[in-house]
Amino acid sequence: MNQDHVRRCFRAHFGGDPRHVAVAPGRVNLIGEHTDYNDGFVFPAAIDRELWVAADLAPGPTTLLSEQAGEGANFDAPTVVPGQASGWAAYPAGMAWALREATGKPVPNLRVAVSSSIPLGSGVSSSAAIEMAFGVLWNRVADLGLDNKALAMVAHRCEREFVGVNCGVMDMMASALGRAGHAMFLDTRTLDVRYAPLPEGTAIVLCDTRMPRTLAGSAYNERRARCESAAATLGKRALRDATLEELFARAGEMEPTTFQRAMHVITENDRTLSFSDALERGLTPRIGDLMRASHDSLRVDYEVTIPELDAMVEAAWSAPGCVGARMTGAGFGGAAVALVEQDAIEPFLSSVDAEFRLRAGREGAFHVCAAVDGARTVSR
Ligand code: GLA
Repeated sequence: MNQDHVRRCFRAHFGGDPRHVAVAPGRVNLIGEHTDYNDGFVFPAAIDRELWVAADLAPGPTTLLSEQAGEGANFDAPTVVPGQASGWAAYPAGMAWALREATGKPVPNLRVAVSSSIPLGSGVSSSAAIEMAFGVLWNRVADLGLDNKALAMVAHRCEREFVGVNCGVMDMMASALGRAGHAMFLDTRTLDVRYAPLPEGTAIVLCDTRMPRTLAGSAYNERRARCESAAATLGKRALRDATLEELFARAGEMEPTTFQRAMHVITENDRTLSFSDALERGLTPRIGDLMRASHDSLRVDYEVTIPELDAMVEAAWSAPGCVGARMTGAGFGGAAVALVEQDAIEPFLSSVDAEFRLRAGREGAFHVCAAVDGARTVSR
């Protein structure tokens, strides 16, 4: 997918040439799962599954057409407030509102064609991509003067206060600040980013179970609440500030489930720091071990995997060329991410495909991805 494609979508639906085009990527997370709402560390990469928008100023309401999702509900960008937009239009409408709130500047109505190659429901942040694509678009059209980090913060506010999902900052930051060929270590408290090249000769493979993430909303909020309660018991601002020793010392004061959840978060933060170190020093086997330990912790302590996701990860672990694999995103379904030796992609894919069918009794979907730059407007 490219800008010519979304320009054609615009012409076919609205007539005339769009004046502005923008793109924002989805993301995978290599390690650091369920740590971002604990002020912790994450390690995502933006991927070449992207959402494109082509737009022009419009006199009337903002009108939306998505090649994949059809027409979106109209809304008035200069005045829209929470509660006034439904369906997928809530993301662009929420961005219009959050951008006005952040800058105090007017945001004009647009006609927008949208086209996306981001798989839906796989946990690779199609919602952050739509927010960031509209963020960079309006930032340019209305000359709002925000940089991508500020736009990611606006997108986070949009997601929480307009769309109503109580997520962390990882997804928007990854879609905003990704860098081609690199993964990004992000401290979600300070928002400092450090880029690390992917291990030489490896590719990112998204291994999708194609299992819908049904419980995701309620179970996610429940996990969050447990983490906050554990931090409170430990007398800490967030679990990022707690050590395993402190957790064990107060174990008797919390429910066993709360203890388990905190155990995951504290050990996952350590793993993410170790991963960063291993990547820098080119310690490939260590990278694999840390990804495996992360998955096991998410399965046993955090309990956000499902049998199909475990089957996918095990299939990946036993396949040729696998450097490391684990679930990615919130869990409860969705996809695994694998780092795979470039020379072994074909045998890896056929082995995981067959093994997953055998173990899970269903068909997966596989995407070989490259790490790409974050959200941006593009000109011809
Ligand atoms: C979802 C959320 C993120 C993060 C992950 C789990 O993707 O949107 O903020 O919490 O789950 O790591």
